[in-house]
Parts: sequence; structure tokens; C-alpha cells
Amino acid sequence: MSNPWMDINLKDYEGHMQLDSVQQLPVLNQMMHGQFYRHAAATIMILGIAGGNGLNHIDPEKICKVYGVDINPNYLAICLERYPSLAGVFEPIQADLSDPEASLPHADLVIANLLVEYIGCNCLQEIIRKVKPVFVSCIIQINDAHGFVSQSPYASAFTRLDEVHHQLSEPILIGCMREIGYSLCHSAQEALPNGKKLLQLDFSL
Ligand SMILES: C[S@@+](CC[C@H](N)C(=O)[O-])C[C@H]1O[C@@H](n2cnc3c(N)ncnc32)[C@H](O)[C@@H]1O
Repeated sequence: MSNPWMDINLKDYEGHMQLDSVQQLPVLNQMMHGQFYRHAAATIMILGIAGGNGLNHIDPEKICKVYGVDINPNYLAICLERYPSLAGVFEPIQADLSDPEASLPHADLVIANLLVEYIGCNCLQEIIRKVKPVFVSCIIQINDAHGFVSQSPYASAFTRLDEVHHQLSEPILIGCMREIGYSLCHSAQEALPNGKKLLQLDFSL
């Protein structure tokens, strides 16, 4: 069975995330500005980059390389099309992050937003061991009682995500990072209109 993200059209993902009732793309976009510039990092790797939300904040005067990793090559092609001004700075990497053989370069800062839910903590640990960043910043969704995908007209596009969904929480992620030597150095949260929250947890060596 292929990974369900291979069959999700970016228009459906972004359409869902932009709904007034969901509002995750604009809130994430704002939070990503803080992720990029809070820590002094010249090289950044964004895991599960989808359509490149947040890349609009990249200032090539301050950040010399941004790797965008995703399993879906169509998403990466759209990132390249959307950000021609980042030629030479933005580098797409097509990889299945749950594959222990995936090869990844070093980056000073690793960002994983709404991704660990789909690969699990063990895979995150493997990736961090390979990339050896100084900082790791993750945004996770804190759910209400209604499940991890909000009601929406796009819901049928996401039915297979249950197959790869891992339960995640603040203490689970903090424990997972602690096991590989990283401590929590900053946290922030933003409320969403549907009663959910986005929680940012930053870690350093
Ligand atoms: C929920 S989306 C989050 C996208 C973006 N980070 C955001 O916050 O809007 C998850 C992203 O991770 C990617 N992804 C999921 N599983 C993956 C895997 N095993 N390897 C690489 N990318 C994966 C999906 O293709 C998708 O782009």
C-alpha cells in the first residue's frame, strides 16, 4: 500500500487548511516566521513541507539554505514553482521519512510541523540523529474531542490518513527528544477557531 500522502492532492490539503473553520495555514504561516528567526540558523530543513507554506519569510541574506523534504514529489514541484526567488537557496528532497535508509544532509535547524503525527517519534529520532541539528522546532496539533481531521467538504480526501496516524502529545514529544539529548528551550501556542490548538515546542542540544 502506498503512503496515503502520495494520493492527496495539494489543492485538497490546502483547501481544507484554509477553511474559515480550520484556519491552520495562516496561523502556521505566522508561527513559522518565529521558528525561522528565533534561533541563529544559517541552514534549515523543513520536514513534510507540503506546498511550502512559510517560505515567503525566508530572507536569503540571513538564511543560506533551506531543504524542503516531502514524500510527495508533486508538492515539491509546486514549492519550486511558487518560490522562484529562492533559486539556489531552496532545495527539495524527495524522501519517505519513515524509511530508515532515507539519506539527509546536515542542517542547523530542523522544523517539523504537523508531521510527527504521521511518522511517529521513533522515526523522528532517527532523522534527528542523521541531520544532527542544533535546534529542532515542532508544531503539533492539540485536538478537541472531535478527532484529528476537522469536519470539512474536503474530508473524503483524508480518509486513509488513519493508517499512518500516530498518537502524539506534548509529554510524548518532550520525552522522545529528551531520549536523544535535546531539551525544551521554548514553547508557544495559538488557538484555532475549531477549538483545537497549535503547540510549538522548540528543542536545543
Ligand atoms: C499535515 S501535512 C503538514 C504540511 C506542512 N508542514 C504544514 O504544516 O502545513 C504533512 C506533510 O508531511 C508529508 N509527509 C507525511 N508522511 C511523510 C513521510 N513518511 N515522508 C515524507 N513526508 C511525509 C506529507 O506529504 C505532507 O506534505
